[in-house]
Amino acid sequence: MEFYDVINRRRSIRQFVDKEIPRDVLERILDAGLKAPSSNHQRRWELLTLTDKTIILSLAKLIKPYPCRITEPKSPQQEMFKIAYPKQRTMIEESSCVILPFFKQKYPLSEEKNGYGLMDYGATWALIENMLLAAAAEGLGSVVHIPVKKEPEQIRKFLSIPEGWGLPALVILGYANPDAEVPAQVKATVENRVRWNKW
Ligand SMILES: Cc1cc2nc3c(=O)[nH]c(=O)nc-3n(C[C@H](O)[C@H](O)[C@H](O)COP(=O)(O)O)c2cc1C
Repeated sequence: MEFYDVINRRRSIRQFVDKEIPRDVLERILDAGLKAPSSNHQRRWELLTLTDKTIILSLAKLIKPYPCRITEPKSPQQEMFKIAYPKQRTMIEESSCVILPFFKQKYPLSEEKNGYGLMDYGATWALIENMLLAAAAEGLGSVVHIPVKKEPEQIRKFLSIPEGWGLPALVILGYANPDAEVPAQVKATVENRVRWNKW
């Protein structure tokens, strides 16, 4: 797929069909992630890739759907909340693969002295975006879930993750359900968001 088509086609998909993703497809997506830029060329990443449905279903049990009281969305964001919040668990249950991108967390994220904690965290998001785009190029749907509240600790315990590894997001992959609900996108264009040469 042409690069800009991939960019334009990638959307967050939260409903999937029950279909296995071939191993070679997953390996290309993982490889795309590992090619991302990283601070100080560290590439201190470890990608835990779940394809075993029993493990995925058990992981999903740790994720709480958020309550959402919006019935008549008045903006693309509200539409997204209405679609996304209730699906935080089911989107994992329906997925065919969940990638957990860990980064070696040598410093706390709030480390103000040198900002290193944020650099490794940021580099992991570069890796995540590469994988989301690669998934789109492979004809897959994808979405991320940020572990909140008790979820990070519960995930760590469930998967026996050693101390010292940060997890910015779960990367959830699958073949999109053709009826998947996708909200309108907030308009962010070169015309309305870019300033040239001065603020
Ligand atoms: C930092 C970040 C955190 C996000 N967290 C979640 C999340 O926890 N659950 C979810 O369903 N989507 C999450 N998303 C996806 C956004 O909701 C989505 O990107 C946004 O609504 C725009 O839709 P699009 O990805 O289809 O363009 C997150 C995206 C980013 C970049």
